[in-house]
Amino acid sequence: MKKTTLIGPFKQVIPMSGLSLKGAISDSQLRIFEDAGILVANGKIQEIGNFEDLSKRPNNIEIQELKGNHTCLPGLIDSHTHICFGGSRANDYAMRNAGMSYLEIAKAGGGIWDTVTQTRKATQEELIKRTTKLANRHLKSGVTTIEVKSGYGLSIDEELKMLRAIAATNANVSADLISTCLAAHMLPKDYEGNQTEYLAEISEKLFPILKDENLTNRIDAFIEESAFSAEQIAPYFQKAKALGFDITVHADQFSTSGSKVAIDFQAISADHLEASTQKEVDLLASSNVIATALPGASIGLGCDFTPARKILDAGGALAIASDHNPGSAPMGDLLTQAAILGTFEKLSNAEVLAGITFRAAAALNLKDRGQIAKGFNADFIGFHTDNYQEILYNQGNFKPCMVWKNGELVFDKHKH
Ligand code: NIG
Ligand code: FE
Repeated sequence: MKKTTLIGPFKQVIPMSGLSLKGAISDSQLRIFEDAGILVANGKIQEIGNFEDLSKRPNNIEIQELKGNHTCLPGLIDSHTHICFGGSRANDYAMRNAGMSYLEIAKAGGGIWDTVTQTRKATQEELIKRTTKLANRHLKSGVTTIEVKSGYGLSIDEELKMLRAIAATNANVSADLISTCLAAHMLPKDYEGNQTEYLAEISEKLFPILKDENLTNRIDAFIEESAFSAEQIAPYFQKAKALGFDITVHADQFSTSGSKVAIDFQAISADHLEASTQKEVDLLASSNVIATALPGASIGLGCDFTPARKILDAGGALAIASDHNPGSAPMGDLLTQAAILGTFEKLSNAEVLAGITFRAAAALNLKDRGQIAKGFNADFIGFHTDNYQEILYNQGNFKPCMVWKNGELVFDKHKH
């Protein structure tokens, strides 16, 4: 007989269900279950209801009873990271803060290429070790699904090394890692040919291997003056779409044009958008592309935040992700960054939480997570409070004390 577990009681469960994928959300729209329990079976949520009532059900229920006040949210989803890499870019950070720009540092041999050099030097085992450590750190902060990009290999073999390391890490850790191929991160400095030739080679030779080895179903590209233009990327994305890959784009970070590419290719998400003007905001809002703000990159580079308020007011769908990477976004704390974006962009609690739960699930094209609702994965997190507002109010310095993944308690602070 299948085991059913009742978990609770929670003073509050904020299920993040019944909310619109697009547009502004006020806190009064948030559903709140009080003194609630969650029934879980086979890793899925069966029911949410009054804990007392559920505990009296006659059938074979195991009860996981919590002591004290807890508030429960869906497991957080970080839909954009680069946590598979070698080395460090502490020197870039110091140079930026001494006045050099991100693009100047890249031109001087630092930047993404520096991490490519260090990642190529690392063995697959070393990459697995690093990624495992960062994924586990994320899990303890409540992040149960983490997207992870390649993009520091930039050759067929080195991109494969990264994507295999991500797959092996996924098998090692409690969080789900969703991999993305970002071979179009920049033209590798040692490539004998131009952007068009590089992209053609990657799409012809690497894409079929990704399919054969089931390494990813997502293709990303950095559309920027320092990386690839809209024209150069068009055949690459066409090929990816023809093979059935989902598209996602690093768009409008320093200059606009990437968001239009994302819309034209019906990308699942367009990420960054710090440079987007009202024109791009309106175009994104009238499309099905999820606009993803990466406050960690704004904090890391000391530049403007993505116009999140404008995106929501225009009717767009806003996800919020950490962009955790060794260069532009070294902090990697999703909850802290999302809370800070909320203060600068005047986002409601509901909008911030939506951005790191069900809207982030949509940014990964995942329909089985991001809400505490019947049939969804039993991924949820408990905070030691009786009021959900305390979570963002503490601006990230209040972490969950319990994390459940597929119904299993995978982190319990009380035991550490
Ligand atoms: O999302 N913008 C391009 N790529 C990454 C940065 C990578 C790096 O600096 O190493 C980003 O910010
Ligand atoms: Fe990124």
